[in-house]
Amino acid sequence: MDFFKLAALRQSVRQFKNEAPSRNEILQILEAGRLAPSAVNYQPWQIVVADAPHLRQQLWEAYPRDWFKAAPVVLVICGNHTEAWKRGADQKDHCDIDAAILTDHLSLMAASIGIGSCWVCNFNPEKVREALQLPEHMEPMVLLPLGYPATPLEAGEKRRKPLEEIVFHNGLSRSY
Ligand SMILES: Cc1cc2nc3c(=O)[nH]c(=O)nc-3n(C[C@H](O)[C@H](O)[C@H](O)COP(=O)(O)O)c2cc1C
Repeated sequence: MDFFKLAALRQSVRQFKNEAPSRNEILQILEAGRLAPSAVNYQPWQIVVADAPHLRQQLWEAYPRDWFKAAPVVLVICGNHTEAWKRGADQKDHCDIDAAILTDHLSLMAASIGIGSCWVCNFNPEKVREALQLPEHMEPMVLLPLGYPATPLEAGEKRRKPLEEIVFHNGLSRSY
């Protein structure tokens, strides 16, 4: 699929059908995540596929929105801070960046096979930690609910800043 079409197709889906995506579809999405790049190729991440009702209930308590409850599967993207690359100059931990790239791969792949997703970061991290019994060095970074969208994905216009507002030439004072 053409990349621009895929980028337009990927959108935040907050209404799902009851039927869960198949294991094969979930595995395709996970495989696309596995191929994501990361700093020094350290791959400091783990993904929990949450579809058990009791676990979804616990995740819902961490992000109590009706629409989120309706998602049949939630991927919990966890960053491993002990494995992540720290930049030599200032020790900046690149775990968040790596987890974001992974999540982008997952959500784009999902869209490419007609599965809806939505990044969720506005959750209570302690509740997710408790639900998954995460050790201290593992941080729940993103909840990615997955499901067949209630209405099929369609490539729509994105509300985004124009290039002139975000791109500059040889410094921040000149437009490109
Ligand atoms: C890092 C990140 C965190 C987000 N967290 C939430 C969230 O907690 N809840 C939610 O409903 N949407 C969340 N979103 C979805 C954004 O609101 C959405 O991507 C944005 O408005 C653009 O819309 P689109 O995804 O349909 O293109 C998040 C997106 C990103 C990238």
